[in-house]
Amino acid sequence: MVVVGAQIVFDHPDKVMGTKKPTQVLRFLNEMSAIVITGASSGIGESLIKTIVKLGYSGSICNLSRTKPAFFLQKKYQHFACDLSDADALAQAADLLMKYLNTAVRDGPILLINNSGFGAYGPFQDLERARQTQLIDLNIRAMVDLTHRLLPCLLERGGVIANVASIAGFQPCPILATYGASKSFVLDWTLALGEDLRGTGVRTLAVCPGPTSTDFFRNAGFGDARLDVPGQSADDVASETLLALANGKRLIVTGWRNRWLVRLSRFLPLLLLTRISGSVLRRLRNSVAE
Ligand SMILES: NC(=O)c1ccc[n+]([C@@H]2O[C@H](COP(=O)([O-])OP(=O)(O)OC[C@H]3O[C@@H](n4cnc5c(N)ncnc54)[C@H](OP(=O)(O)O)[C@@H]3O)[C@@H](O)[C@H]2O)c1
Repeated sequence: MVVVGAQIVFDHPDKVMGTKKPTQVLRFLNEMSAIVITGASSGIGESLIKTIVKLGYSGSICNLSRTKPAFFLQKKYQHFACDLSDADALAQAADLLMKYLNTAVRDGPILLINNSGFGAYGPFQDLERARQTQLIDLNIRAMVDLTHRLLPCLLERGGVIANVASIAGFQPCPILATYGASKSFVLDWTLALGEDLRGTGVRTLAVCPGPTSTDFFRNAGFGDARLDVPGQSADDVASETLLALANGKRLIVTGWRNRWLVRLSRFLPLLLLTRISGSVLRRLRNSVAE
């Protein structure tokens, strides 16, 4: 990793899954008869599924997102086209998904990965209301809705639910207020759900990446913002996530720098932490404006 000026420099994806206990991960994956993911069309979701396929996973893979993943060429990969921020569209896609699971993949545990999400960067008062509510609909409501729809099936067959939160979920995030709060929800909800499900044969994992090299920043309106923090590649996040799943972890903060950041932030009073987080994120805004 190299940091040049105020530029985010992503780790090179030189640690592909092959170097991180692939046998153990594949053993876990092959216990799952199907993997259901949201947002495998790009970024972290795409890396997760590509890594899973590269490892030799033999079960079915289902994706829900607006765009079909470019690598979904084989019949065993099912794409359910859906804008998950639209409650009716989600209900229709979930019905089709359930029909598919009940006919084509009748037995065995299911791995559900709620990964779709986006951010909206800027002071709340400057952002469009519709975009803010859409963010809540996707990052929060869709995750809760889809999980609740699939849960009876998971409770019957066993399974794991992995929800992609963020290190943004550990503190308030001025300039990313709604996004940060949505990820606090994902984090808290996933940990609490894990407790509710104790002893049922279904467990949860909260995944907390830090800055990761994907389309996220452009889509969130950072423009060509240069972030003064080192980031990870999507492949590295995917690889750490899969290992955490195989190890039965309940919470993972990916990347050692992110783990330190989260640990240090625990020592600060919440109001001070909010100010610091705001000043870091505001600096990014200034660098966009320059
Ligand atoms: N990148 C980071 O720095 C970072 C850090 C921490 C956490 N995360 C989280 O990681 C997750 C994945 O983000 P990413 O970084 O991989 O960003 P990304 O490359 O922009 O991918 C976002 C994914 O979400 C899907 N999505 C967006 N809107 C959707 C909608 N309305 N309905 C269904 N699917 C939708 C997209 O698919 P379609 O466009 O095809 O619908 C895409 O596959 C998000 O939850 C994000 O908050 C990212």
